Amino acid sequence: MKVTIVGAGAVGASCAEYIAIKNFASEVVLVDIKEGFAEGKAMDLRQTASLNGFDTKINGYTQDYSKTTGSKVAVITSGIPRKPGMTREELIGINAGIVKEVAENILKYSPEAIIIVVSNPMDTMAYLVHKTCNIPRNRVVGMGGALDSARFKYRMAEALDCPISDVDGMVIAAHSDTGMLPLTRLATRNGVPIAEFLSNEKIKHIAEETKVGGATLTKLLGTSAWYAPGAAVSVMVQAILCDQKKMIPCSTLLQGEYGEDDISLGVPCIVGKDGIESIVSLPLNEEEKEKFSSAAEAVRQVNKDLNL
Ligand code: 2OP
Repeated sequence: MKVTIVGAGAVGASCAEYIAIKNFASEVVLVDIKEGFAEGKAMDLRQTASLNGFDTKINGYTQDYSKTTGSKVAVITSGIPRKPGMTREELIGINAGIVKEVAENILKYSPEAIIIVVSNPMDTMAYLVHKTCNIPRNRVVGMGGALDSARFKYRMAEALDCPISDVDGMVIAAHSDTGMLPLTRLATRNGVPIAEFLSNEKIKHIAEETKVGGATLTKLLGTSAWYAPGAAVSVMVQAILCDQKKMIPCSTLLQGEYGEDDISLGVPCIVGKDGIESIVSLPLNEEEKEKFSSAAEAVRQVNKDLNL
């Protein structure tokens, strides 16, 4: 099946590379507005095929959405990334217009496509797609929690000095420096709650490091991260194309779930061939419910900037 990635920048190209290497898609189409850029990234990536052992076709086109026709999944990474010291929310003025236009172009040629939104501020951009494209909510999937959960696991494994494969944990709520909710109470090391191994103080530190994981990298790199975001998207694309019914925290339009309505926010979702196939209801405690509600309120304030 065909996957379109709009935006051949670092995140989009990394995502294309991981999808290709995992060899589950027939074709990846990269689209970018910069003349020749998507073509160059695609050609460079295809020249790794014999080295990385994949058969996935990768083609790039400059603004020619006709080449995206028939995409099962389309990933929107377009827009400007943040610079050191910026919040994701500061990008809305530029990225909102870009994301709206890109989504419309995608659906013009692939009216049944499932859209994965990466561009920031992601929860608000996902909400924008819901509100302007008028497609079923299961077909708009915001990528934030998959990335934040990977950073959460990284921090836990570092603190526990254990293999990353030993830890599990999930981050829900907003993909923002203040609105993320790492579910430390439910996090485990081989099925054992991490509280059995770490002090409350250390666990709180892990949660705080997770929340600013993106900003930490932006400060080090001078721009937003790309490897882990690209890998997180590739996991979501694979869950859809391979109908994995995988539980992944995704930003999705809530309609009463978790006590919220008419907002796109990160919750555990079962992801398969139809995109967000169901939302998993977690037994949050009072503190977690309060944090989730506060995150929702903050995202609502940002959503107002869309003037929808
Ligand atoms: C991040 O957290 C780009 O929002 C993305 O790295």
